[in-house]
This record gives sequence, structure tokens and C-alpha cells, in this order.
Amino acid sequence: MKALILVGGLGTRLRPLTFSMPKPLVDFGNKPMILHQIEALKAAGVTEVVLAINHQQPEVMLNFVKEYEKKLEMKITFSQETEPLGTAGPLALARDKLIDESGKPFFVLNSDVICEYPLLEMIKFHKNHGAEATIMVTKVNDPSKYGVVVMEEEAATEEEEEEARVKSFVEKPKHFVGDKINAGIYLLNPSVLDRIQLRRTSIEKEIFPKIASEKKLYAMVLPGFWMDIGQPKDYLTGQRMYLDYLRKNAPGELLVSGDGIIGNVMADETAVIGDRCLIGPDVVIGAGCVIESGVRLFGCTVMRGARIKEHACVSDSIVGWDSTVGSWARVADITVLGKDVHVADAEVIQMSVKPEIVQKV
Ligand code: GDD
Ligand code: MG
Repeated sequence: MKALILVGGLGTRLRPLTFSMPKPLVDFGNKPMILHQIEALKAAGVTEVVLAINHQQPEVMLNFVKEYEKKLEMKITFSQETEPLGTAGPLALARDKLIDESGKPFFVLNSDVICEYPLLEMIKFHKNHGAEATIMVTKVNDPSKYGVVVMEEEAATEEEEEEARVKSFVEKPKHFVGDKINAGIYLLNPSVLDRIQLRRTSIEKEIFPKIASEKKLYAMVLPGFWMDIGQPKDYLTGQRMYLDYLRKNAPGELLVSGDGIIGNVMADETAVIGDRCLIGPDVVIGAGCVIESGVRLFGCTVMRGARIKEHACVSDSIVGWDSTVGSWARVADITVLGKDVHVADAEVIQMSVKPEIVQKV
């Protein structure tokens, strides 16, 4: 089976991290975001992944592909747009790569969503319903910033609801039409490609509404957690959900425990943690990080190579690669430090600061 991951967005909402790294390669749970998806695709039997990119292909992306093609024994290729083609145009551009002689459906994924990826169940669901296109949906409190799906019938039970057909699809609705939203994971028959022209096209605004009107669009309710991690606050919420999922499903493997560790904490084995620290809940510490003595960390990510000096406190924030937080400094309140940023001793950064302030020039 084949899959395409839409990785062409500019990642502006995740600046300043995305000044140094393309969004799909920003670490989440100590590995690049898209690696979570590529591994899930492999587990579901996908052998070939196409990465749909639209900007200049950075060296770092090429290196990632080379490394993981080998490690995962999968074919990973690029399909590069000369101008942004939106969320459907890239499928038309990669048409030849997606069509399989056996006529099998293929997966399409947004690159910035995190969940349990029940892709095998999705394949079954797609076949059982004879769908032309299946999308994963999930419930959220504020549906207005997503694509909203209205089911054909208000089913009586959750079980029946899972089998409902999509009546209509409304991208970022201005008025409330429902709370079930597009989770950014699709399984499409090759015939969907015949509906897409090679121009800038939105799959959400132009393609899904049409398929729904022909009663060929189905929605599978995603079990478990889901989050679009394309902006800092949601990234940290997604991290909390992900760590909680690991606690329930693979606790010993990735989470650490011991003196001074509270709740769910993931730390790379090469990270060094000093004495009398208080770490957690909901913290991820990357490879080669140094957490000096007396440090307090909670609800935060400290990425590869960063150093948090004595008695500093980092909460609800992201510390980018190779950055330093000085002794007795405080970084809080959804602050995002980019790569190689240095917070002086005793400095307080307590609100979402403008990217240019924390990005080293
Ligand atoms: N190749 C390519 N070219 N990819 C693109 C382009 C483009 O021109 N524009 C966007 N993308 C990619 C992004 O990198 C991302 O992976 C995906 O398409 C969706 O774009 P976002 O910018 O993240 O969209 P969104 O979060 O506002 O909304 C989308 O995701 C929601 C779920 O997270 C929509 O699909 C919504 O319907 C959905 O609910
Ligand atoms: Mg998004």
C-alpha cells in the first residue's frame, strides 16, 4: 500500500522552531513529528510513502529521508511543487506515485496531527462500507478552526454512529454545524484522483463536499486521543495526551521514574539530570540535555542538546535544540525558545513572546 503525507505548510504557527527546522521534523516525544506517522503507516502495511513538499527542499529533509528509508526499510520519496498546490493539488501531482497496479486505496495524512493511528481498523472500515473516501473524525470543544463533518443520520448509539455516512463537510465553519471534526487522516480510492485537477485545490473545500454530496464519503470515529500539534499550546496539550497514552500502553519503555520525578516524564537515556530536581508531570527531555541541580520542570519540552542551569524553572513552554536557560531563570506561559537561544541568569520570560525576541540572530 502507498501513502502521501502533506508536508508543504510553512509552519508559521510553530515559529521560532520552524525557523531552524521544517515543521514535520520538529521533535515531538523525542522524535520528528512525521516519524510517528511513517512508523504507523509501516505497521499498517504501507511500503511506499510520498512526502508532498512545496518549498525549497532543505538538506535536512533529504538526510532524514535517507536515514529512515534504511532504518524502516521503506521507500520514501518526495513530490515537490513549484508553487503551493493546497491540500488536494499535491495528490494530482503525485498521481503516478500513488496509483498501484492492484487499484488499492492509499492513505493521505496531514503532517501535524498526533493520535493512536488505528490505520488497520480504517482499512477494514473503508472496505466494509464500500466507501470512495474515508476520513477519520474526532470530537472537539471548539470545532470552528477545523473541518466539520455532519453525519447523515443522528444515530441512536455510539456504535451505530461509527457507521454513519457523511452528509456534508464544512471547512472552518463560521456558524456551529456540529462538533465532529476532520482529524486529517484519509483513505482514498484511486478514483478520487480523477476528481482533482493539477492546480491549487483544497481537498476540504472542493473535493470532500462533492464526494459527500454523492454519498460516497464515510467517517470513522477515531478512538483515543487526537491533537493538531501545529501551534505551541496545542503541541503541549498533545504532549500531555501522548505521554498519558504511553503510560497506559508502554509505561516501562519510554517513561522514567525515581526520586524527584512526578507523573509522566520522558527522558532520553543520554540526558543528564542533576540532584534535587523536581521534574514533571508532562515533561519530555531530549538527547544530550543537561538538567543541572535544583531545576524545576513541568508541562514542557526540552529539546536535544539544551541545558537548563541550576535552580531554573521551565513550565508550559518549549526549549528548542541547543538552547540554554540560565540559573535561577524562569521560562513560563507558552514561551517557545528556538534553536540555540540563551536566556540569561535570573531572567524571567513569562508570556508568549514574539518569535524575533527569542530567536538568536
Ligand atoms: N504539499 C503541500 N502543499 N502541503 C500543504 C500545503 C501546500 O500547498 N498547504 C498545506 N499543506 C499541508 C500542511 O503541511 C499540513 O500537513 C496539512 O496540509 C494541513 O494544513 P494545515 O495548515 O495544518 O491546516 P489546518 O490545521 O488549518 O486544517 C487542516 O487540518 C485540520 C486537522 O488538524 C484541515 O484538513 C482541517 O479540515 C482539519 O480539521
Ligand atoms: Mg494543522
